[in-house]
Formats: sequence, C-alpha cells, structure tokens
Amino acid sequence: QASTEQWRPNFHFSPAKNWTNDPNGLVYHEGEWHIFYQYNPFENKWGHMSWGHAVSKDLVNWEHLPVAIPEDSVWIFSGGVVIDKNNTSGFGANSMVAIYTADYHGKKENQHLAYSTDKGRTWTKYKGNPIIPAPMPGGKAMKDFRDPNMFWHEPSKQWVMVVVLPLEFKAQFYGSKNLTNWTLLSEFSKQGDLRKMWECPSLIELPIEGEQGTRWVLMLSSNGPHQDFIGMQYFVGTFDGKTFTNDNPADTKLYVDYGKDFYAAIPFYNAPKKSMLGWMASWNYTDALPTFPWKGQMSIPREISLKRTKEGVRLLQKPAEEVLKAKNWRGLVQMEEMGIEEDNGMMWQNQAGSYMIDVEFELNGAREVGVKVMKNPTNNQETLIGYQKDSEQLYINRINSGKVIAPNFASMDASPMKEERGTVRLLVFVDQSSIEVFGNEGEAVITSLIFPEGNSGNWQLFSRGGRAKVTKLKVWEWQKD
Ligand code: FRU
Repeated sequence: QASTEQWRPNFHFSPAKNWTNDPNGLVYHEGEWHIFYQYNPFENKWGHMSWGHAVSKDLVNWEHLPVAIPEDSVWIFSGGVVIDKNNTSGFGANSMVAIYTADYHGKKENQHLAYSTDKGRTWTKYKGNPIIPAPMPGGKAMKDFRDPNMFWHEPSKQWVMVVVLPLEFKAQFYGSKNLTNWTLLSEFSKQGDLRKMWECPSLIELPIEGEQGTRWVLMLSSNGPHQDFIGMQYFVGTFDGKTFTNDNPADTKLYVDYGKDFYAAIPFYNAPKKSMLGWMASWNYTDALPTFPWKGQMSIPREISLKRTKEGVRLLQKPAEEVLKAKNWRGLVQMEEMGIEEDNGMMWQNQAGSYMIDVEFELNGAREVGVKVMKNPTNNQETLIGYQKDSEQLYINRINSGKVIAPNFASMDASPMKEERGTVRLLVFVDQSSIEVFGNEGEAVITSLIFPEGNSGNWQLFSRGGRAKVTKLKVWEWQKD
C-alpha cells in the first residue's frame, strides 16, 4: 500500500503508524499532558486493542512513547486515568491509576485496573481484576458494559466513576474510597437521543461564563451500524455525589459537535483548565479511511465551559490557547473592512494545506457568507465552510472535497447558530485531512475529515445573495519545525 503522508496532520495528534480510535485516560501530570489511545500495535485496522501513549508539554508537539497497556488474553478497551495524590489505593502517592474495560474478544466485558508509579511509562495490571464485574440481571452477565471514566469528588470525599451499559442506554455511577472497591451509586438512563447505543461517558463540573455558578455535564458518544449520524451528545444538570439530575426534560437532545467526525471525547483529568479532545472519525466508515501507514487522528484540544442562553445552559468549546499560540503559526494575511460579493472574495494560494483562518463577517445584504478551503484549481475540489442566514446554520460542505470514501461521506453537515448583531465569526482549522470550525465564541462546532487530492492549498472568501463585509480577517499558515 502506498504511503499517504500528504494527509498526515501537522498540529493534530496521529500515531506514527497503525490504527487508533478513542482517546483514553487523558490526564495532566507534573507538567505533561498524556494521551493514551485505543491502538492496534500491529496493523492499520482495528484489532489487538491496547493503549498507545504519547506525551506533550504544550498540547501541540507530541512525543510517541511505547505501548502503555498491551492486550493479553483480553482486549484493553477505553477507560480513564486519575492521579491518586493521597495514595488512597495503596499503589503509591501520585500514582497514575487507569481503569479500562477488559473485552473478552466480544464475549464479555468488565472493568480492570492498572497503575503506574513512573509517570505512565510502565504499568502494572492489578492482581484483583476485574474490579467491577458485569451486572447480572436475572443471573446472566451483560455482555456490553464499558468505557469507565473517573474523578475525585471532593464534597463527598470519594472517587466517582461513570460507565455505560451501551445497549440499555444507561450510564451507571459508582463510588469508591480506594479505586479498587466500587459500589453502585445511581443510574441515568433513556434520556436524550436513543437511536444508537451509548459509549464513552464522562461527567465534569464546568463554570458558566460570566456567572458564579457551575453545572455538571454528562457527555457520551452514540454510534452504531445504521446510517444516521449522532456523534456526541451531552446533558446539563447537577450531581450531588450520588445522582446526576438532568436540568432539561428527558427528551431534550443536545449535541457536542455537528460534524460526522468527532467521537469519544473525554476531559483531561487533573488539568489546569477544563479541556477535552476526541477521535476524528465515525464508525460508519472507519474501514474506508484511506490513510497509510497510520489510521486515525485526534481533534485539537478544546477548552470547555458553559453559557446561559435563552434556551438554557449550553456547552461552549474553544480551541486550546496552546494551539492558538503555537510558535509554528506564520501570519499570512491581516485585513479589515473589505467588501465581498459572490466569488470575488480574497483568494489566497497556499501550498502547505495546514492553516488557521479567523474571519468575522457583517452579513448586510448577503444570505450566506463563508470561506472555501482546500481548493484545487486543477480538479475543482473544494470544501465550503459557511453561515446561512435563513436557516441560521453554520455548515461544512464536503460534497466535492476530494476522495469520497463512503456513500454517506459526501455531505453537508450543519449546526444551529445565530448571528450576533448582524455578524458571524468563523475560526477555521484546516490540517491536510480535517476541518474544525468554531462558530462565534465556540457555541457551534463542526468537525469533518476531508481527503483532497492533488495540490489543494488555496482558499477564498465568498458571499451569496448580496454584498457582505469582512470586518476582520487573519490567516496563519503552519510552518513545520
Ligand atoms: C468507542 C468504542 C468503545 C470501546 C472502544 C473499542 O469508539 O466502541 O465503546 O471501548 O471503542 O475500541
């Protein structure tokens, strides 16, 4: 198979070679950000599931480390990592404790523990595994029971874990004093979007911007064999150390990202700021991902918080400061107050294929504004990122973006978004084979993979249906080290 290094991202994490899916055990510890990740050490496809490992001091440059937790007689599925500062577990002060799902080759799942006393470099599997057996309603162990994520809950002075029974649409909360003995606290089930099984839950307390208060956010990922796309959903509510209570009616559906390629995100534990990252792909077409010798990449880290809106408290996601401030960005364009109409907007030729565009439009008479990226003058491929006034939607249109890897890949994916006083802001990250767009101040986010063919580094601003004004435009290109 030919190498496809032209699709290798520059400022997104990807394994040097072979397959990855979910990020696991995201944690900050003694100056290092850790990504563990679902990894096949042997092949460029799913299998032999183990935890790969990389560390970073700046959330931009990642150092690849050896496989952290290899498969044995079971696969090592997704899970979380905490730092046991006070040695509640007896594995050692400041040890890293991973709890993950042991998958018995599709026959059974339960929760296992491993720990590290050398900053995640070497891991010991706990002798008492499993620490939580699968629930046995009616005496029969449930086959699907996975993806634990843990945190220390100070008010109730205990560790709390959330884990799912995917096919029951049920999240379970467990509590523990020592990370090894867990008791069931409560369950949360059958709320939100129930079209596909639930995976990779997490629970985190987030600040509400401009207010004193906080809210708890339960996130999870939903995917499955049929063709609807769900991706990640979230619930906003309270957590009292025992029960998560949804603020909204049970049928309220809230989505994290409106693209097809953001999945299994979990928060960084013990981090100086509330942040997360996810896997950029969808199970609907993972087999068709065309990259070699690696398959799978992570989103950029996102800082997360909440905002009170007319509809209720909603999630905000902003690109991590570290990514915005990376020393590799070289300013290309900086402009203000420029009129555009149809396709006469500024066109820029860029060979690199990794860039960041921060643009603010005043819509005026226009019905639609945006930017076309990864344009190729030879084969006319391009990806459109825009805002539609009438439908109040932010979108990514990748119908003609390049290689169509699956029938449902060529699509236009849209998120609700509102203008603010007649203006919209788009912060767009283009990195060879992905687009992430953050609308306004991070209230609408869309993530899409693209596989442009040939020399496609051009971009251009556009408006439709009238004249718009670009009030601010800044573009940077990524320069490799
Ligand atoms: C989510 C998931 C998890 C599971 C892992 C296996 O993408 O299906 O539920 O732990 O991937 O690789």
